[in-house]
Amino acid sequence: MNIEIEKLRKQLPEWVKSSVPHSSAGKVASYIPELAKASHDALGITLLNTKGEFASAGNFEMCFTMQSISKVYTLILALMDNGEDKVFSKVGMEPTGDNFNSMLKLELVRPGIPFNPFINAGAIMVSSLIHGSSQQEKSERILQFFKELANNNNLKHDEDVFHSELESGHLNRSIAYFLKGNGVLDGDVEEVLQIYFCHCSILVNCADLARMALVLACDGTDPLTGKELIPHRVVQIAKTFMTTCGMYNASGEFAIQVGLPAKSGVSGGILALVPGRYGIGVIGPSLNDKGNSQAGIELLEKISQEMKWSIF
Ligand code: DON
Repeated sequence: MNIEIEKLRKQLPEWVKSSVPHSSAGKVASYIPELAKASHDALGITLLNTKGEFASAGNFEMCFTMQSISKVYTLILALMDNGEDKVFSKVGMEPTGDNFNSMLKLELVRPGIPFNPFINAGAIMVSSLIHGSSQQEKSERILQFFKELANNNNLKHDEDVFHSELESGHLNRSIAYFLKGNGVLDGDVEEVLQIYFCHCSILVNCADLARMALVLACDGTDPLTGKELIPHRVVQIAKTFMTTCGMYNASGEFAIQVGLPAKSGVSGGILALVPGRYGIGVIGPSLNDKGNSQAGIELLEKISQEMKWSIF
């Protein structure tokens, strides 16, 4: 067995234990009421290498919705469906420095397209670019793509979280109507929002995230099946956004402290990767004020520093 995996298996339980207390400084998201049910001090992690060897610790078997982590893979699908020119005529390539649900710059900065595909405005825009003849078909294509990437045919939506967000997502609704009003977003706003809420509500565990991340770590090919799932250039774009915008307005600090491409979600998940080597899935529902997992970030900092994994 790989020496590094052995070290990880040995050390992970202790690293998880020392990171858990950091949860108390954060809060579980409650603006989507259904998410507030998650356990405040849960923390789990799975790492998966290119030989299929796992190292896991803590509450790694817990299921949670992908939320914003799904935005990485809907961007990828939109790029595969439409090509770069079309996608980047509708969404920019720059970090905002604002919160993930902010619509401030849509009005302030011309031409009024979302700054990047990971803020809510950008991801809603991306959802509108997914190909399919109906809203159901588009959502089904997304789920099917995620199943292939996670190598898990059992992935499904969490209907309760989906309906909870559909009912409470007033801010997202206003962002989408604003984009529509400005002539940026095409199509029916409510249908686009359903596609967006639907992919945010896909249920995963840490192993699913690790497998999905491993495909990106290996430039689009799943090393365990040999299948090429994403073109190399598209992976390059996704990993760049993960590095510059993956943790929203905390992406700079994360790059300095952890130094790995990553993407967070408000359910407390983080997907990260070590290029060419590991896919990583983390869950820790207590969030900091930027909407990122408080203990999850602490744990990734510890691991990256101990293993000397920063890409910088
Ligand atoms: O649209 C929302 O607000 C959620 N479905 C996703 C936001 C999210 O995960 C932000 N991440 N930290």
